[in-house]
Amino acid sequence: MLGSGKGSNFVAIAEAIAVGKCPAEVALVLSDVESSGILDATRQRNLPARFIAPGKFRTKLDEDAERAYVAALQDAKVDLIVLAGFMRVLKGDFLRAFEGRIVNIHPSLLPSFPGLEAWKQALDYGVKVTGCTVHFVDAGVDSGAIIGQQTVAVLDSDTAETLHARIHAAEHELYPNCVAAIARGEISVSGRQVIWRP
Ligand code: GAR
Repeated sequence: MLGSGKGSNFVAIAEAIAVGKCPAEVALVLSDVESSGILDATRQRNLPARFIAPGKFRTKLDEDAERAYVAALQDAKVDLIVLAGFMRVLKGDFLRAFEGRIVNIHPSLLPSFPGLEAWKQALDYGVKVTGCTVHFVDAGVDSGAIIGQQTVAVLDSDTAETLHARIHAAEHELYPNCVAAIARGEISVSGRQVIWRP
């Protein structure tokens, strides 16, 4: 699992695993932010957590960092890479090493509002419904095949903070369900269509 922030999606997935709702294990959590909540939350659960410095760029990993991330994940023999608030775009060699095996959660109903602060983009645009999306990662930004989505109503009284909090709550239901379905082998992909066959 890879994350840069608080780690609430990591916690939701780790709890689903702990109560038997998701037949998976967390092999390794990596972060590009040494003081991130996701690393603390992982260590609190006695699971393997590592900071790997991202290198000289702001929005992606540099070549050395990319190699170090790929090596750490291959050494840990991961089957699936779960991005949980990892705020760097993954590129070339990383994507090639784990093709079709990387999933991400995004805080909007894609393809609306890709990129940063999607909940704020939705509020500023004035949509009445937004939500969250779990998708496979491809070479674009938030553009891969969609695995699952959950809607969240936008209220007249919403601020960016209150809307993001409700989207987060929806993420904590959606993401463990999607990871569990993948772990059970219930998900197949045909072009852009992701089919659930329980
Ligand atoms: C989540 O809202 C996730 O959708 C978002 O970062 C947050 C991480 O929260 N990801 C992106 O915006 C990716 N473009 P968390 O650290 O508490 O799981």
